[in-house]
Amino acid sequence: MVASARTSMAVARVPYHLAVIMDGNGRWAERRGLPRRAGHRHGIEPVRAVVESCAELGVRYLTLFAFSSENWNRPEDEIHGLMSLFLEALDREVAELDEQNVRLRFMGESQRLDPGLRRSMRAAETRTGGNTRLDLSVAVAYGGRGDLVNAARRLARQAAAGTLDPDEIDAERFAAELEMARIPDVDLLIRTGSDRRISNFLLWSLAYSELYFSNVLWPDFNSGELNRAIEYYGSRQRRFGRTAQQIEASLC
Ligand code: FPP
Repeated sequence: MVASARTSMAVARVPYHLAVIMDGNGRWAERRGLPRRAGHRHGIEPVRAVVESCAELGVRYLTLFAFSSENWNRPEDEIHGLMSLFLEALDREVAELDEQNVRLRFMGESQRLDPGLRRSMRAAETRTGGNTRLDLSVAVAYGGRGDLVNAARRLARQAAAGTLDPDEIDAERFAAELEMARIPDVDLLIRTGSDRRISNFLLWSLAYSELYFSNVLWPDFNSGELNRAIEYYGSRQRRFGRTAQQIEASLC
């Protein structure tokens, strides 16, 4: 079964794949009478802290939602500020990430990004490509629906060209066309900033995730709050459609 084969065991204490919707930068800044960009800038330190904690805790995959396909609708100056911040943070942090044996990947529709940022992203992916301690995926200009549509289009092209029999398309074959191909399903999703929604993030990989919504605004997120989320995850019984009795019997 795809869901159980691609996710960690039902009783795992630490998620194998953690995904985070980092929300609340704007409100954090506005509450202090600061421009929104100050909130985004203060959002970098928690990214660093979460990466470090995940590496220490043994989380194997970490996926961060940095900029959604819908975020292109924000004011021009905020978008520009965010892109400059990504480039600055990437160029500054890549050596340290490499040192920590972290593999960095980017996902999303990169064609719309500035060529300089794209070059730095590709260089970082190449530089860290052999690292094995933690796989860090950063979603920039990513949308879950767009990802699904692109996968469907690729499969349709293969079927139209006669290289794929439509009857061979199953969940596994479909997943292989997604940005998260070869990356296991998300075990735990954390969203900060008090809203309780998925916001077009990893629609496919979140099918069986545990969800943790935190009221903390992203710039205030820290290892204590991360530990609370992981404790919550550890307390969940993951059933993947089975009964509690079946899960308990499988543990004996
Ligand atoms: C959502 O808060 C946050 C973003 C759109 C940007 C996320 C970027 C960072 C955390 C900066 C550092 C990231 C990396 C990967 C280096 P919001 O602006 O929607 O906040 P609001 O809901 O309070 O308005």
